[in-house]
Amino acid sequence: GKHIKIGLAGLGTVGGGLWSNLERNRDLIESRSGIRLTIPMVAVRDMAKAKAFGVPADSLTTNWQDVTRSEDVDIVVELIGGVDTAYDLVMDAIDQGKVVVTGNKALLAERGAEIFKRAGEKGVPVFYEAAVAGGIPIIKALRESLIGNHVTGIYGIINGTSNYILTRMTDAGLSFADALKEASDLGYAEADPYLDISGWDAAHKAAILASIAYGSWVSIEDLHVEGIDGLSLSDVHYAERLGYAIKLLSVVKADDEGRIEVRTQPSLIPNEHILASVSGVFNAVAVHGDSSGESLYYGSGAGQDPTSSSVLADVVDAAYAVDTHQRGPGFVPHGHYGEVKPIED
Ligand code: HSE
Repeated sequence: GKHIKIGLAGLGTVGGGLWSNLERNRDLIESRSGIRLTIPMVAVRDMAKAKAFGVPADSLTTNWQDVTRSEDVDIVVELIGGVDTAYDLVMDAIDQGKVVVTGNKALLAERGAEIFKRAGEKGVPVFYEAAVAGGIPIIKALRESLIGNHVTGIYGIINGTSNYILTRMTDAGLSFADALKEASDLGYAEADPYLDISGWDAAHKAAILASIAYGSWVSIEDLHVEGIDGLSLSDVHYAERLGYAIKLLSVVKADDEGRIEVRTQPSLIPNEHILASVSGVFNAVAVHGDSSGESLYYGSGAGQDPTSSSVLADVVDAAYAVDTHQRGPGFVPHGHYGEVKPIED
């Protein structure tokens, strides 16, 4: 098939997953898509770790510009995390006319408006399925499948680490700290787990979902954010005794006057509600559309393989876009901020 070359920045949990899953399924992907994918250039911070993946030494660099500026790279995949360097890297890739794939939710929530403005000016598609809800294709669902809907509400459990911690506290009586340790060891938590337990990781994802649903970005200051870090074992057990599960719920709502609201907070969900049964690292996102009604998307919300599965899907979409720079049907968030006015309760 056609040969498309990936420049990968970051070989951590998700980048490492992309490398291994592409090694394993390269022929399968080629047989299905007609595209042969290789990764001739990988930028890393730590050369020693990268060699453990079997990345050939002449493919490795510690300078990310070797990836964004390489003649030998068609698609730049940004999986380094964090905001500042990732921003410079993604903007440089766009300026170089490379198709971009990123899994970086903090980056998009904080600087998505600028990134999509530049991408629009340069006519470069940016794909970001892995930024929200790990292996669940929620970005594709919202921007493609539900394109014909006014979205009236989104209700989601979109931080796997928080949900894992709450589940382990409830089912196994683990302390908060022990449950967080497990989530980190399993590769679910962020490099800085404060983002998970403070609610910010979920809030970033909710901001991204809102930007697709309503067409403009929500600025960080307008997000309402509370995490699970204040919860104790007794909170979890009292809720259980009263017939509720405590879940970190992110809600995006719009009213008829164009006001939207984006909130993330621990919430009591009645046991008979379907979201109460979402446990462990699983995520679920319910989307209400004016014609679709309610759809529920459920699956593995974090971790190496599910998240890199979403990256790989983006890479295939990106590969189709290399020549044309057409990203296919589906809504692309505009490069501007909208007005967020809280909906009065
Ligand atoms: N730390 C994130 C989570 C990873 O736990 O959901 C997936 O985005």
